This record gives sequence, C-alpha cells and structure tokens, in this order.
Amino acid sequence: MKRVAVLTSGGDAPGMNAAIRAVVRTGLERGFEVYGVRHGYRGLMAGDFVLLSARDVGGIMQRGGTFLGSARSEEFRTEAGRAQAVRQMAERGIEALVVIGGNGSQAGSHSLWKAGFPVVGIASTIDNDLYGSDVTLGVDTALNIALEAIDRLKVTASSHQRAFVLEVMGRQCGYLALMTGIAGGAEAITLPEVESDPEQVAEEIRDAYKKGKPHAIVVAAEGARWNAQALVDYFKGQRERLGFELRATVLGHVQRGGSPTFADRMLGTRFGAEAVERLARGEFGVLVGIRRGELVTTPLDEVVARTKPLDPELLRLAPILAR
Ligand code: F6P
Repeated sequence: MKRVAVLTSGGDAPGMNAAIRAVVRTGLERGFEVYGVRHGYRGLMAGDFVLLSARDVGGIMQRGGTFLGSARSEEFRTEAGRAQAVRQMAERGIEALVVIGGNGSQAGSHSLWKAGFPVVGIASTIDNDLYGSDVTLGVDTALNIALEAIDRLKVTASSHQRAFVLEVMGRQCGYLALMTGIAGGAEAITLPEVESDPEQVAEEIRDAYKKGKPHAIVVAAEGARWNAQALVDYFKGQRERLGFELRATVLGHVQRGGSPTFADRMLGTRFGAEAVERLARGEFGVLVGIRRGELVTTPLDEVVARTKPLDPELLRLAPILAR
C-alpha cells in the first residue's frame, strides 16, 4: 500500500492533532504517502485533500481542536454520499482511510468498510461513550477543564454562600458528569443513565448547608432529565429551603477547546501510530482503542452495535464520597 488518508470527524477533541501527527510521521516512516482530508466526511465527498509532509504536522500537538478541521455531515449518511467519497479516494489512488472520531464518525467508517473500503478508526470523543476503548481521546483534557471550573466555582460560591449547578457535556452519556462530580467533590450528580429526584438533590444541598459547608456543588450532565436549566427552574424561589442561593454555569464548548493534556497528547500519539501499524498489517474494519492500558483493536461491527455502560462501582461510590 502506498497512499493513505486521515480525517477528523464529528465533535473535535483535544489530542486529535497528536493523532494526525503520529499517523503522518509513522506513515511516512512506512513509506506511505499520507493525505489529510479537510473538514471530515464533507471534505472527503468534496475531494478536499492535502498531501502532508512531516513538517506540515509540526507545531500542532499542543493545539486543541483539529488542524484538518471537522464537520458533521448528513450527506455522508446517504449511499450516494459515501459512493462519492469512495470515488474521490479512488481517483487519487488512496487505498485506506484513518477516521479519528466518536460514535457518529465510526458509524461512518463502518459503512465505508461495509462498502468494501479499507478503514481503521481511532477512538476520539470527549464524551467517552464509544465502545472499544476504556478511554477515548479528549476525555482527560475535558475532565481537567471541568475540574478547573469546579475549583473556580467553589471559590466564588464560598464567598457568597451559594450553591452552583455545573452542567457538563456528554450528550446522552453521563461519564463526564460522573467523573467531574467525584473528582471535584460535588454534593450531587445528575446523569442521563440514572433516574434522579430533584427532592434528593435539594436534600443534598440542604444537608451541606446544615453541616456548615460554605457552598454546595451539583454536577449535571447535559443529557440528564435534571440538567442545569431544569434544576434552576425547579428550585426557583426556594432559597430558604435550600439554605443556599442556587446559580447555574453551563460549561458547553469551553470543555472541548483546551490545549491537550499530557495524557491526551500521548494517547493521540499512540493511537495514531497503532492505526498505521494496523493498516500496514492489512487489518481493516477495526477501531484502535485502549483497554487496561494496552492498545487494542475492536471490529467496527461490534463498535457500532454495542454501548459502553458507566462503571457501577463508581456510581455506587459517588453519593458516599459526597458526604
Ligand atoms: O460529542 C461531543 C459533544 O461535545 C457532546 O458532548 C455535545 O453534546 C455535542 O458534541 C455538541 O455538538 P456540537 O459541537 O455539534 O454542538
């Protein structure tokens, strides 16, 4: 094999640049020509390719986001869109594709693979909701940003004797909220996966007040029934009852934009190098991830068919640690 391409797709994740850099440099070492595809599947269909040298990927590792650009493409979900993408690659003699992205992106790589095109996926999403990797690219940075937000909120909350709801991203997965809540010492956590009762949240806040804590923190997942807005609406005018005035901060895309941590730079680098290794061995239709510290691949058939549940032990511990 001589020509391969790499793209980033879906929500950007800190560490994607490290993965691209590793794909390019280890690919060159193998004697491949490596093309970058701009703006994910949209660029793939439009033929937006750029030949990458080792120097082209210099100085990008410390940058968040993806220097190739990313996109969410509805058109790629259609058979015609995918056929167009394959045509664009065939015209350039590109024989394999590395797809760096999360669930939607790997559903895309899976359909390319089913259509007969050689692909290797790299597990990348801040949500950590992708089957096939204990941890996905970008999660560590996103968690550190959320923790920094909690630490800062605690400072101002203490000054004013307030309670804060911090809403974190994660789509329908509560991983970011659960981890942020545990490591950030939150009094309560609301998640999409677990039914929670706002009366229970009220009790936790009130309890913190009664114990003499200077603040209370609730971490809410954006996909939870009781997200920040729902909790603020529910507790409107109930300051006396809670003990604290309740305010909300929605972290949103701030969580995606950080400079990647050491962990994400290393993970991206290892994932990128491993993806090239698998390509070189002719192993296609798989996702590169990490399990128990070891790089592994999982068939894309399995990746798209399965979901990754939250760790029940951490779910059990969270309320105990909040006391
Ligand atoms: O999948 C990553 C993610 O950041 C989710 O946590 C969030 O729900 C979604 O993407 C937001 O998507 P967009 O950037 O397209 O608004």
